[in-house]
Amino acid sequence: MREEAGGAALPRSGAAPGGRGSGLRPGAAMPSPAGEAPRGHPAGARTREASAGGQSAARARRPAPRPPARPMAPLAARPTPSPRRARPPVGSGAGNRHIGRDQPSGEGRGGDRPRSAARAGGRAGGGSTARRMAVGAEGTLSLMEVGGSLLERVAVGNPLSLVLAASAFALSLGYLFQLGYRRHVGSEQKKYPPYISSSIPFLGHAIAFGKSPIEFLENAYDRYGPVFSFTMVGKTFTYLLGSDAAALLFNSKNEDLNAEDVYSRLTTPVFGKGVAYDVPNTVFLEQKKMLKTGLNIAQFKQHVSVIEEETKEYFKAWGESGEKNLFEALSELIILTASHCLHGKEIRSLLNEKVAQLYADLDGGFTHAAWLLPGWLPLPSFRRRDRAHKEIKNIFYKVIQKRRKSDEKEQDMLQTLLDASYKDGRLLTDDEIAGMLIGLLLAGQHTSSTTSAWLGFFIARDKSIQDQCYAEQKAVCGDDLPPLTYDQLKDLSLLDRCLKETLRLRPPIMTMMRMARTPQTVAGYNIPPGHQVCVSPTVNHRLRDSWKDALDFKPDRYLQDNPAAGEKFAYVPFGAGRHRCIGENFAYVQIKTIWSTLLRLYEFDLINDYFPTINYTTMIHTPNNPIIRYKRRSL
Ligand code: HEM
Repeated sequence: MREEAGGAALPRSGAAPGGRGSGLRPGAAMPSPAGEAPRGHPAGARTREASAGGQSAARARRPAPRPPARPMAPLAARPTPSPRRARPPVGSGAGNRHIGRDQPSGEGRGGDRPRSAARAGGRAGGGSTARRMAVGAEGTLSLMEVGGSLLERVAVGNPLSLVLAASAFALSLGYLFQLGYRRHVGSEQKKYPPYISSSIPFLGHAIAFGKSPIEFLENAYDRYGPVFSFTMVGKTFTYLLGSDAAALLFNSKNEDLNAEDVYSRLTTPVFGKGVAYDVPNTVFLEQKKMLKTGLNIAQFKQHVSVIEEETKEYFKAWGESGEKNLFEALSELIILTASHCLHGKEIRSLLNEKVAQLYADLDGGFTHAAWLLPGWLPLPSFRRRDRAHKEIKNIFYKVIQKRRKSDEKEQDMLQTLLDASYKDGRLLTDDEIAGMLIGLLLAGQHTSSTTSAWLGFFIARDKSIQDQCYAEQKAVCGDDLPPLTYDQLKDLSLLDRCLKETLRLRPPIMTMMRMARTPQTVAGYNIPPGHQVCVSPTVNHRLRDSWKDALDFKPDRYLQDNPAAGEKFAYVPFGAGRHRCIGENFAYVQIKTIWSTLLRLYEFDLINDYFPTINYTTMIHTPNNPIIRYKRRSL
């Protein structure tokens, strides 16, 4: 029989698997399109599907699709991986081959151009760009009239309807403006990435993608090559798959492919103003540098014993043996350890159920609604988030002020931030410090807890690896297993490789996103401004072109020199470039310490051979039904 994780000081909602947030870290905080999709979403489907002329007219204008050379399996139901196939390198013209198949113009996405020109011509008599824009404006005007009258009607009804109608109206307007813009852009000679069209206006591929994003992307990669676009809930996403294509995103400047544009809407209400994606990236980079100073080896040495103690204490409640929710337990434990290590002992000592609930409410700010709807809407989750934000900051302010007055200097992150200054000499304000502390905690929360849980299931499934990991504890630390040290942790190389392999097969951040602010070129395609440009570590980590036995958990693959054919961005669980994670080393220390402690305490098994399936509905892909069987080890 399954039991609930017991003895946790934290309310379940705080860290519940698949709970409302599941997207606590900056990168993950943005809703993955997967999560967004089924909920429906605002404006901006690719013009072809949702032009004001209506679907049937659009269909009539569309040239009859050519049968693909190789039929594409339904995206959401890809049975078995197709055999390894030689993928032509990015930029080799491979994309053209794909496009040539689908697009009569033979110009790749440039095939859009004649189509949109024809569409505009049909309506506007084949006139100039200005005329086409005017037609777009006409459509916009009539929609405004309809919207206006709708608003008037609901205004006499209840205020919430008014608010919702106003939002829908605003989002529709945004969509129409985008549409007009795309027509304008489409009128120029451009070769856009292959576009996966959908007959569903507005939602586009949201449902198929939401159901099984990895399969969707892998199928698209097989069919279209490494770069392709599609629409979901009104937004056009362009994926850059594989190491070569991903280089565009990782090497880009923030002014060109922008992170704030996609992440800030969610993160700013949670972290607060003046930090992370609320400030120009140059300022955020300075803040990251300050945080990095506090994540040093001297700190990690202290963290190891703190985390070991917290883990032992937390798992006392598990007793001798049983079956419990591993993910839930690790989520709760990681709030405790991260708060202790990253906020300091004062803030950790204040972490009771009430504060944990505040974190849960803050986490609840990372919802699909927060991404989709205007922030001023009086939704209960928004109100809870904003109240929690204020209350947590008030707690932090008190601790910060007390520290500022103290004559003694602690050696921890809080002290690092109190002493840090910007290049111009300005010190951080209390508000900035409090925002950075929130960001630090939340950035590592779901990423580390899901990774730790998946690691547990991988080694529970492969008992031989688990036994070797336990043997490694004894070999490195001594038969009597004394308290762990940082140096020993470094020498636990099998555990290290297991973690690395877990991050390959289950990277918590499934997609990194940027908004194209300027036109971009990749693999011979032009990506116009307004596209959400994405790289998926999950897909890069399992491309058969890059990885041998891609889907197998094989920690020893890292004993070879080039496990991924030496490709630079084939393995990117922590991102790369200017937005790269600063928490990697801390995450390794935290997860390796927790798992060293757990391996010493218990032996783990799957229950009836059930290995958790992946829950794609959460922003971070969590394990479904993550119950594990455990039995205390006799030393
Ligand atoms: C297993 C654990 C973690 C994983 C897999 C992970 C993954 C990532 C990834 C993929 C990015 C890049 C996002 C993007 O390019 O859009 C990122 C950025 C970042 N992460 Fe982590 N992270 C982890 C833990 C942490 C921890 C523990 C912290 C803090 C202590 C942290 C702080 C940050 C920060 C500040 C950024 C920078 C965002 C930016 O510059 O835009 N992460 N992380």
